[in-house]
Amino acid sequence: TYVVTDACIKCKYMDCVEVCPVDCFYEGDNMLVINPSECIDCGVCEPECPAEAILPDTESGLEQWLELNAKFSAEWPNITTKKDSPADADDFKGVDGKYDKYFS
Ligand code: SF4
Ligand code: F3S
Repeated sequence: TYVVTDACIKCKYMDCVEVCPVDCFYEGDNMLVINPSECIDCGVCEPECPAEAILPDTESGLEQWLELNAKFSAEWPNITTKKDSPADADDFKGVDGKYDKYFS
């Protein structure tokens, strides 16, 4: 599966939503997550994300994000069409420590 990491937080560009063939993105206030049991591992979302927030879980050190994607995809609503990203999205691109400050 692919997972959305903290780089998405407060950027939420949503280009990923447009390309996913199985509509497996779910929307929180400040970030999206992927449902790992629905993702078919096609990989098309990864290069679409301007924040480079999407990674394959075959990369090491992503256990925390895999767990978070699984948990919140069961709680948050499905999102299938791109909306406007936050007006200040670019201010948060590449910023460290966003999970502790802004996750919701
Ligand atoms: Fe959707 Fe493919 Fe990305 Fe999985 S890898 S979330 S199926 S676009
Ligand atoms: Fe987030 Fe990137 Fe999608 S910032 S909403 S994972 S395009």
